[in-house]
Amino acid sequence: MPTLFDPLTLKGVTLRNRIAVAPMCQYQAVDGLPNDWHRVHYPALARGGAALVVVEATGVSPEGRISPACTGLWSDAHRDAFIPIVETIKAAGAVPGIQIAHAGRKASSNVPWEGDEHIPNEDPRGWQTIAPSAIPFGKNLTKVPRAMTADDIAGVQADFVAAARRADEAGFEWLMLHFAHGYLAQNFLSPLSNTRTDGYGGSAENRGRFLVETLAAVRKVWPEHKPLSVRLGVIEFDGRDDEEIDEAIALVRRLKTEGLDFLDVSMGFSTPDASPPWGPAMLAPVARRVLAAVELPGSTGWNIADPKTADALVRNGSLDVVMLARPVLSNPHWPFHAAKALSVENAAWITLPPSYANSLARYQLS
Ligand SMILES: Cc1cc2nc3c(=O)[nH]c(=O)nc-3n(C[C@H](O)[C@H](O)[C@H](O)COP(=O)(O)O)c2cc1C
Repeated sequence: MPTLFDPLTLKGVTLRNRIAVAPMCQYQAVDGLPNDWHRVHYPALARGGAALVVVEATGVSPEGRISPACTGLWSDAHRDAFIPIVETIKAAGAVPGIQIAHAGRKASSNVPWEGDEHIPNEDPRGWQTIAPSAIPFGKNLTKVPRAMTADDIAGVQADFVAAARRADEAGFEWLMLHFAHGYLAQNFLSPLSNTRTDGYGGSAENRGRFLVETLAAVRKVWPEHKPLSVRLGVIEFDGRDDEEIDEAIALVRRLKTEGLDFLDVSMGFSTPDASPPWGPAMLAPVARRVLAAVELPGSTGWNIADPKTADALVRNGSLDVVMLARPVLSNPHWPFHAAKALSVENAAWITLPPSYANSLARYQLS
């Protein structure tokens, strides 16, 4: 079995190790455009030694953003603004990836440090949300979304396709569709947010239709040699867990038939009443179960901060890649410190740019 520091080739892309930076909203964009913040943040993470850097949930339309400060990819100007970020990530030896998203009934939210609540439609910063059914999330996200028409569904799918095409044109080499965390795709998937009576609601097969159609349409424009991945909420921790996992497995098999290359296993977050069992590597057993059933390479995240745990999950075949968010925010050079902790040969040289490795290869922090 491979280790955390073995490369992985998928389609025409080779990851230098099994460490990926998970998508993380920065809430620093203006009008969806990335700026100096993003031009420093993403390359810094790439220089830290991760193999894959996935840019934050990026709206396929202005209304698809989680907050007014989220990035977007709905125009060529947005595409062009991402190009220097893509190039600097690549220059640092990492694969540039991006997550494209529509936030559904959780859109039009305030940034977390200003309250995280819905921004009312009357506020010039807010907008009317859309979702499969007119059911609010609850808690701090109380806005009632407008139930989508067939035209709305086709329109959002076209937005995903256009954003995927622009991501390719910007030079991104790895695409992640955000089908998790209570955003639009998950709204379709979960009976908690989808009570439609047409072909997009009711049975598990119908609730998965929006996701399957969207992925199939994206695959037509996203080049075959570039991996197409999905972050899917496979479990809600709301008491229906086994049923949800079984439904997710059946759905991923359909997505695979339409061209899915890689699955990131995550949670649904469709209800404020869920009780996830927070703890180290909490989702790894679920990911192992799903990935084995669907026979796809994949990853998960959630509290995999310990290098030995990360390495063990790759070595024992649970995961192909570990997704790290807060550990790399806390220490962008996590891969270097992990390589040292695991006594990997040439730890500095395989994880750091030469300008840093030359000084740190023999240095012991005292
Ligand atoms: C600041 C921050 C922003 C996040 N934004 C996103 C996002 O844009 N898309 C997404 O799918 N998950 C997002 N997440 C979730 C992370 O990708 C990750 O799944 C989660 O933090 C668990 O990993 P960790 O325990 O390594 O932090 C975010 C997490 C953090 C901490």
